[in-house]
Amino acid sequence: MFDSISRKYDLLNRIITFGNDIKWRKKMFSIAKENNPKKILDIATGTADVALELSKIEDSEITGIDISNKMLSLGRKKIETRQLSHQISLECEDAENLPYPKNSFDLVTISFGVRNFQDLENGLKESNRVLKKNGVLIILETSIPKNYLINFIYMLFIRLYIPFISSIFSNNVSAYSYLQKSAEKFPSGEKFVSVLKRCGFKKINTYPQMLGATSIYTANK
Ligand SMILES: C[S@@+](CC[C@H](N)C(=O)[O-])C[C@H]1O[C@@H](n2cnc3c(N)ncnc32)[C@H](O)[C@@H]1O
Repeated sequence: MFDSISRKYDLLNRIITFGNDIKWRKKMFSIAKENNPKKILDIATGTADVALELSKIEDSEITGIDISNKMLSLGRKKIETRQLSHQISLECEDAENLPYPKNSFDLVTISFGVRNFQDLENGLKESNRVLKKNGVLIILETSIPKNYLINFIYMLFIRLYIPFISSIFSNNVSAYSYLQKSAEKFPSGEKFVSVLKRCGFKKINTYPQMLGATSIYTANK
């Protein structure tokens, strides 16, 4: 599915989030930087925006993985243009079956990726396995606003605005309809914190963004 929407993915991301996705990735970067990670894995890296943001961390070595070859190939172009191929490498791998030994990475990031895992807990356990002891996980994902009024506006936004925008800019409306439905179903807030605990993570923090429509979660192995 992501192969089919890869060409317009970045543009639609900017439009749908009103440009806030850039701000959220910067926030991920500032949380990451505090932990001074050297070996970083960006899971579901897509067109590599998070990997590129994290490359600002001095002496870091970043691996981005994704199952969509077309998303990866757009990401590789951006990395080459910014002459960062010595620091970021992209590989076609599945988050639920990672080819890396346990305790390999200081930091794992997943931005708008966990919602697409076939088996959420399996994917998160894999992230936990490849993290070093006390290594950090940072997840950015859609969430459901708790406030009744904001929740009502949010539902209008994802049920009307996203299909409308995708019908104008994308040739694959059904892909965006899937993204909208998966956003409604995905466990958010405390429910997602419980999932992270079950997958072996501790010291979990939640940072709601844009009135709770998106959240950043941090956790340690
Ligand atoms: C919404 S995009 C997010 C891309 C990027 N991280 C960002 O923030 O813009 C979701 C990505 O997850 C990838 N993906 C879905 N399931 C995956 C899996 N099991 N393993 C690796 N990548 C996966 C898709 O191919 C897609 O590129």
